[in-house]
Amino acid sequence: MPLYTAADTSKTVKLERYNSYLRKIHSSKIINASSKLLFRATLLVALLLVLVFAVNYPPLSFSSSSDNHRLHRRSFLSTGIFSSSSLGGGAAWEKRVRLSSAPRRPNGFSVLVTGAAGFVGSHCSIALKKRGDGVLGLDNFNDYYDPSLKRARQNLLEKHQVFIVEGDLNDGPLLTKLFDVVPFTHVLHLAAQAGVRYAMKNPQSYVRSNIAGFVNLLEVAKTANPQPAIVWASASSVYGLNTENPFSEEHRTDQPASLYAATKKAGEEIAHTYNHIYGLSLTGLRFFTVYGPWGRPDMAYFFFTKDILQGKSIDIYQTQDDKEVARDFTYIDDIVKGCVGALDTAEKSTGSGGKKKGPAQLRVYNLGNTSPVPVGKLVGILEGLLGTKAKKHVIKMPRNGDVPYTHANVSLAYRDFGYKPATDLAAGLRKFVKWYVGYYGIHPRVKREISSRPEDSA
Ligand SMILES: NC(=O)c1ccc[n+]([C@@H]2O[C@H](COP(=O)([O-])OP(=O)(O)OC[C@H]3O[C@@H](n4cnc5c(N)ncnc54)[C@H](O)[C@@H]3O)[C@@H](O)[C@H]2O)c1
Repeated sequence: MPLYTAADTSKTVKLERYNSYLRKIHSSKIINASSKLLFRATLLVALLLVLVFAVNYPPLSFSSSSDNHRLHRRSFLSTGIFSSSSLGGGAAWEKRVRLSSAPRRPNGFSVLVTGAAGFVGSHCSIALKKRGDGVLGLDNFNDYYDPSLKRARQNLLEKHQVFIVEGDLNDGPLLTKLFDVVPFTHVLHLAAQAGVRYAMKNPQSYVRSNIAGFVNLLEVAKTANPQPAIVWASASSVYGLNTENPFSEEHRTDQPASLYAATKKAGEEIAHTYNHIYGLSLTGLRFFTVYGPWGRPDMAYFFFTKDILQGKSIDIYQTQDDKEVARDFTYIDDIVKGCVGALDTAEKSTGSGGKKKGPAQLRVYNLGNTSPVPVGKLVGILEGLLGTKAKKHVIKMPRNGDVPYTHANVSLAYRDFGYKPATDLAAGLRKFVKWYVGYYGIHPRVKREISSRPEDSA
């Protein structure tokens, strides 16, 4: 449509030109306006992306070390937005999950083992699988200690047909998915932020795994149909400042000496709540200083071995009143027997679909060795096995949450599932050292020491 009209041709031509000029201006205005709109929309999307990224990838300054940062990142990633990526790879993934969880004995269990790439979790997973139970692992492979050791345990578990799903306790959709795919009869919940001293460095990691993660697991378990029976790891640390000996389940546990202990104690109270409201069957096991092959590098017997072999000096703690620090060191095979005994005697949960149908079982047991050994004696045994004198540096125990003495009374676990520790410290440490030198490379002097003694029968 022309914008102007004229009678003579030359005027018409001029006006045509003018009209076309006006049209161009008009359409370029439209283009300008729409490109401005496009630009603004792009800016908005970019801003939103930056926001989402900032929430999920907090800057380094949020934590004190790069280790912590990685832990933070893992945990942030598993709070929701990106968690669907961890839901696994469709049909093939689900097939692996089902296969690993399927029992191979009549009335066998289907057990979800959390923390399966960890020290206790890997041993328990193999023991359960060997007797014909179905086992599915869950672990976030965090780098609190060398993750390559966790990967090596994972390889070992794969040889026993145990699949470990890589994921976090706080990943609700992932846990729900696992319970949708498998009707787990039991959960052996061992995933946690372990270690007493590290709590002073990275307190949040304890809250995330031991409290928030535990609640998340219970939330999913309560709505699962059937509800599983849950056996989980508390710790001897809950006895805290208790001075009565040996520690019995009836003693005070309301004076934790570390944040680690406080989170385990919180776990025991949380267990009570979910048992009370939802009818979940819950058994807490208070482990006493577990040691053995495939152990944890952050524990004294482990890093003493490393440091003695490397000729480094080791710190040996004394109490403030110059007494020797002693621990009720418990060999891993005894702990595994205790976990299996607790699973075998766990009654079914009584609820379904998040509703309680009747009272359910709620238990707490000590699992220890009943024979405390001073740390000096532990070092003496290691010196013998390693054929090397340790460079000892005796110092007062720093105020870092450690307690001076632990000693378990295990009569309750004996009464209810026949728990009876069978490996003394010398025999257990020999097995540990044998594994250690095999795993990290044989040290000729150690090889001689180990092979000059008969194999322990325990
Ligand atoms: N080893 C001991 O002496 C001892 C003593 C008392 C209690 N415990 C308890 O026993 C359990 C097992 O201890 P362990 O010695 O095998 O420790 P571990 O650190 O070797 O095993 C724990 C595993 O849990 C995983 N994990 C941690 N947080 C997680 C999360 N949020 N989501 C998924 N996986 C997570 C870790 O990657 C690790 O592989 C822990 O609950 C620990 O507190 C151990």
